[in-house]
Amino acid sequence: MLDLRASVIAISYIVAAVLFIFGLKQLSSPATARSGNRLAAVGMLLALLATLVDRQILSYGTIGLGMLIGAAMGIYFARTVQMTAMPQMVALFNGMGGATAALVSVAEFLRLSAAGEAIGVGEATSIVLGTAIGAISFTGSIIAFGKLQEILPGKPLQFPLQRPINGLILLAVVALGVAVVMAGGSALLWALFVAALVVGAMFVLPIGGGDMPVVISILNSLTGLAAALTGFVLHNQMLVVAGVLVGASGTLLTLLMSTAMNRSVANVLFGAFGATSSDAAAQTSVVGRTVKQTTPEDTAIALAYARSVVIVPGYGLAVAEAQHTVRELATDLEKRGVNVKYAIHPVAGRMPGHMNVLLAEANVPYDQLLEMDQVNGEFPQTDVVLVVGANDVVNPAARDDPSSPIYGMPILDVDRARNIIVLKRSMGHGFAGIDNALFYHDKTRMLFGDARQSLTQIGQALKAA
Ligand code: TAP
Repeated sequence: MLDLRASVIAISYIVAAVLFIFGLKQLSSPATARSGNRLAAVGMLLALLATLVDRQILSYGTIGLGMLIGAAMGIYFARTVQMTAMPQMVALFNGMGGATAALVSVAEFLRLSAAGEAIGVGEATSIVLGTAIGAISFTGSIIAFGKLQEILPGKPLQFPLQRPINGLILLAVVALGVAVVMAGGSALLWALFVAALVVGAMFVLPIGGGDMPVVISILNSLTGLAAALTGFVLHNQMLVVAGVLVGASGTLLTLLMSTAMNRSVANVLFGAFGATSSDAAAQTSVVGRTVKQTTPEDTAIALAYARSVVIVPGYGLAVAEAQHTVRELATDLEKRGVNVKYAIHPVAGRMPGHMNVLLAEANVPYDQLLEMDQVNGEFPQTDVVLVVGANDVVNPAARDDPSSPIYGMPILDVDRARNIIVLKRSMGHGFAGIDNALFYHDKTRMLFGDARQSLTQIGQALKAA
């Protein structure tokens, strides 16, 4: 009977791990992302049920109550969170994972100590690392949440002797960790927990708000690592597998995002991007150059007579919540026989897949979304490019100007199209805080205003045309 139970649990864990892996694979394409999410959720339910059968932790009544409260909160947040607030929600959830891993590690240490059981060096090391990494991930994520939610200032927070002080606290964590492994002692472990909480906060405070998605991705991989270490402590293979998957995908995502921004991970963490004001650059760069403006009516005519139109969405599309309006305009153009595509830059917006998620919400067909490498060759044959709230990802300086801070970042070559129309509110800068030569180009027309309002007006003019 016991063996049967053990086998069922072992098989459930393997099935859950396979579901996680296939779920992750499916998440890599917008067409299969929904079913990938479902697969992974089923895997998680299976893993949870198997764990509950495996160990009689608490009473089933308490567990059921916890699950009910958790599910109610999850459903509430999933239904009410704004698309633009997604990064901070991910930060919050990630922080909870880190805190859980740290607290479970501490609790296991206390349990073993109270039972008078000997804790081996390997086990103690896992406990120490799980506690430290989980605690760092918790406070780091909470600070990231605060910055994105604008509870804390988004600018990098710097103070004198910041690095030496951070170094000293980190050293204290390492020293306490060594002491716990060598000599044990729950007071030392609690001290380590508190010091690691401070490290997490100090580590994220000097990083600018715009870099938070990369930071969250790094913290996500730390949470995965902490969970895997906790799995070693609890001798739970499922936790090890799930933790390693989270850790590895977080690390890969961090590297992908840094590459797409042409910045090293070290530059994101220690570069204090955005610490200096870019106003001076704005004033000097605009002198002597003028932009040509257009109207919704002229834009509608340009679009109606085009054979091919490429829409380039950026962060401004998310701010204006213009995804439905842009899709309606695209549908109207298609009815007139215009070939419409969307060009998606890997770091357009402020979180991975930001544009894909928004456009999927508006039911834009997946085959109309072209990735940067697919679409760049098509721009010379494109009649009109409609840039909707994008800035840095279409800045030719990244390709042509070695002195530009974003030089080397791959961009969408929209300046190679026949006509360019840019929808934004002002000459304001994007995330990188620099001017954009595209806006002054002979072929470019600026349509100033909130993207959703401008798109609505273009749509009305198109219907009247
Ligand atoms: P940005 O370069 O940030 O530019 C967005 C533009 O949208 C701004 O210039 C702004 O101009 C305009 N805008 C804002 N609200 C608007 C509204 N309501 N209506 C119309 N326009 C509006 O955006 P991007 O081109 O998408 O580039 C993304 C940047 O973020 C890159 O530098 C990237 O490296 C960085 N980043 C991305 C990520 C990820 S993972 N996606 C993570 C961290 C950093 P106005 O103020 O004049 O309207």
